[in-house]
Amino acid sequence: MAVITNIDDLKRLHKKRTPKMFYDYCESGSWTEQTFRENVSDFDKIRLRQRVAVDMEGRSTASKMIGQDVAMPVALAPVGLTGMQRADGEIKAARAAEKFGVPFTLSTMSICSIEDVAEHTSKPFWFQLYVMRDQEFLKNIIQRAKDAGCSALVLTLDLQILGQRHKDLKNGLSAPPKLTPAVIADLATKWTWGLEMLRTKRHGFGNIIGHAKGVDDPSSLFTWTAEQFDPRLDWGKIAAIKEMWGGPLILKGVMEPEDATMAAKVGCDAIIVSNHGGRQLDGALSSIRALQPILDAVGDQVDVHLDSGIRSGQDVLKALAMGAKGTFIGRAFVYGLGAMGEEGVTKALEVIQKELDVSMALCGRKTIADLDRDMLKIPEDFAGRWA
Ligand code: GLV
Repeated sequence: MAVITNIDDLKRLHKKRTPKMFYDYCESGSWTEQTFRENVSDFDKIRLRQRVAVDMEGRSTASKMIGQDVAMPVALAPVGLTGMQRADGEIKAARAAEKFGVPFTLSTMSICSIEDVAEHTSKPFWFQLYVMRDQEFLKNIIQRAKDAGCSALVLTLDLQILGQRHKDLKNGLSAPPKLTPAVIADLATKWTWGLEMLRTKRHGFGNIIGHAKGVDDPSSLFTWTAEQFDPRLDWGKIAAIKEMWGGPLILKGVMEPEDATMAAKVGCDAIIVSNHGGRQLDGALSSIRALQPILDAVGDQVDVHLDSGIRSGQDVLKALAMGAKGTFIGRAFVYGLGAMGEEGVTKALEVIQKELDVSMALCGRKTIADLDRDMLKIPEDFAGRWA
């Protein structure tokens, strides 16, 4: 058994054990992948201030996200097709998150349905919503999330249409995969994945098959988004969804202070500074660079969270020290899932918590509430002087 010491170890195993189509789906950004790359590399530009001779005993990574207790402020982000990375993937990830004490967010485009995840977990999880054109479907899915006891709605604002990811088109991404000669040859080397998939019935988009009408190819993410997602989503519709939901609301995909101000006006509980992991607008700033101006604009009105680019506890520490109240990991937990199932997701969380805890201590801080900007060395032009 390989010794796992960091998220990259899990990524290597994920690549080895998962069909290429799904590994590539996880590991791509849109078009040139500039934003996808910079989400990660921009974290490296921020440095931590090492402090010494500070009592390090009695440390804790515990905190709150939207008022809910968390073992560390790191939630699992919504990731489409998670149940294709490993059989019953959403259930496995949700169970790992629940045991660890961090929020799990179920994607609308998941393989396991809301009801299925609720049945196999014992604590509330969060539900991520994509707004579909069909009003009946929309009302129905919000009601289903309420009935399942979901404790927050994460409304994604940056995917009314899909950014193009070249690899997905070239691989013919679908759930379940279509058995072309290339896919069969690939699956022959991923037999644990295949055997586990044969043992589950969860092979399609569980939240929407049987609930949404008139889709030409129900196995294709591209067809779903093109035919069903509502391109008319605007602030009026967001306010209407807030009314329909009536519970804690998180708005995901905010990258500019103007939009953050609008989000705060609508009255959400938190926003997520996110460029969708570099999967939507290629050429957008990295999330960590976009964070400070948004904190300056609305940090005193709503909780500001961040996703996109986090691959370590040091990255989490940098975002929190800058002022984010929470972070989300997507790829980092999917690597764990593809590598080792539920155990791998737990491993990813353990790796990040340990890195966060030890780095925090080496910066002379003992709790999440102690973190602040004084711990960081940020290049003067980090947020950029853009004309
Ligand atoms: C969303 O479902 C994505 O593929 O980024």
